[in-house]
Amino acid sequence: KIKIVTIGGGSSYTPELVEGLIKRKNEIDIGELWLVDIQEGKEKLEIVGAMVKRMVKAAGLDWKVNLTVDRREALPGADYVTTQFRVGSLNARIRDERIPLSHGMIGQETNGAGGIFKAFRTIPVILDIIKDMKELCPNAWLVNFTNPSGMVTEAVIKYGKWEKTVGLCNVPIRYEKMSYEVMGLDEANQELYFKFAGLNHFHWHRVWNRKGEEVTKYLIEEIYKPENKGKYVGMKNIKDIPFNYEQIADLGMLPCSYHRYYYITDEMLKDELKEYSNHETRGEQVKKTEAELFELYKDPQLDYKPEQLSKRGGAYYSDVACEVICSIQNDKRVNMVVSTVNNGTIIDLPYDCVVEVSSMITSHGPEPINWGSFEAGIRGPLQLQKSFEQCTVEAAVTGDYGKALQAFTMNPLILKGKITKDLLNEMLIANKAYLPQF
Ligand code: NAD
Ligand code: G6P
Ligand code: MN
Ligand code: MN
Repeated sequence: KIKIVTIGGGSSYTPELVEGLIKRKNEIDIGELWLVDIQEGKEKLEIVGAMVKRMVKAAGLDWKVNLTVDRREALPGADYVTTQFRVGSLNARIRDERIPLSHGMIGQETNGAGGIFKAFRTIPVILDIIKDMKELCPNAWLVNFTNPSGMVTEAVIKYGKWEKTVGLCNVPIRYEKMSYEVMGLDEANQELYFKFAGLNHFHWHRVWNRKGEEVTKYLIEEIYKPENKGKYVGMKNIKDIPFNYEQIADLGMLPCSYHRYYYITDEMLKDELKEYSNHETRGEQVKKTEAELFELYKDPQLDYKPEQLSKRGGAYYSDVACEVICSIQNDKRVNMVVSTVNNGTIIDLPYDCVVEVSSMITSHGPEPINWGSFEAGIRGPLQLQKSFEQCTVEAAVTGDYGKALQAFTMNPLILKGKITKDLLNEMLIANKAYLPQF
């Protein structure tokens, strides 16, 4: 029987994860499920934990569901450790959004200065988790969902030296579903073939049909032509503000929602500033949704995932996380998009860096599918983004101020000059409690 440990168990997403595990009960034979949180998250953990126990019971399963605020109690002998924690809670996210915005820059959970600070807060914690795993569950797979997922995965593999790591995100599956919708094809029959390459929240993809025809260009036209605005809905957490169509057409590949921050920064910033003047960043909206969700989870009758969870950006995350576990456990060799070591898959990037690419998920982990090289229009931004990520991870590990300033200077969403340093200093002070390395 399998033992799964979920760190950040008090997350409002946990019922989604558990629903995914229940759906796959015939493929993964779970003995124990441990939900781990910290003292500050204990109340959330208990509410979610009780709800999870009801879900498991309603499904007629005998899994032992355990709750703890001591991860060392949970980890011994784990087969899979999944991570979905948020250091500093939503309050830290709101500061990541508001401080850059107050200086006229994009404020976002995983991009720009906000994304950098989320990495700075998270990486020391994940490296401590790895230390405990080395001692207590040396054979476990780490399935990381914690953002910024790509950089966290790179830190774990490169600095934590934990090779059995898979980094995840729900953006690719969201785009796969959208392609089926556009093409009017049945997802269950896997009529389409997808090939993704790039980095987490910074990838592009191509699509083919069963006849071997590439349908990428058709999808670009259907989704992004100005006259089709609003026809298809992307990620819940990012406004579908139109790209400059001719530029997307020139890419010849489908972008991801997050490229909006880079390709149409002006529109995204203006939109954020408008929301900000209404005193609502995304983090603040999420806080309200979370409060609603926890009220529902408290209901002793509720034993299934409520509809309201779909207001969160992470829809389908459980399908990704649970399918990866299933595919490793049963050597299913399913084709999925994950963050994993490049190993020459994208020849424009270093061999040892982490990339987010279509991979075959085997019992020995992801085998990335060869991509090759990108054309200049993508290669340039991609190489910059990877180099930026590497500087950020190095700064997060060492606490080196110059390296942190380098990362800030490289990031396309951060203004350059004295303001770069002012912003870094302001955010270092605001995050002091969560940055032991600086
Ligand atoms: P959340 O604020 O509900 O945090 C989840 C839990 O983590 C909280 O209960 C909190 O107490 C706990 N926590 C904080 N520090 C911890 C620590 N050191 N050890 C254990 N638990 C700790 O967050 P959320 O909105 O549910 O998101 C959780 C994480 O998942 C975030 O990092 C978010 O960015 C990420 N996420 C990733 C994707 C993806 O595509 N990869 C999608 C959605 C969410
Ligand atoms: C998407 C991204 C996640 C991100 C989430 C934010 O799902 O893939 O990485 O964490 O959106 O959603 P939220 O509801 O928290 O704004
Ligand atoms: Mn200021
Ligand atoms: Mn993501």
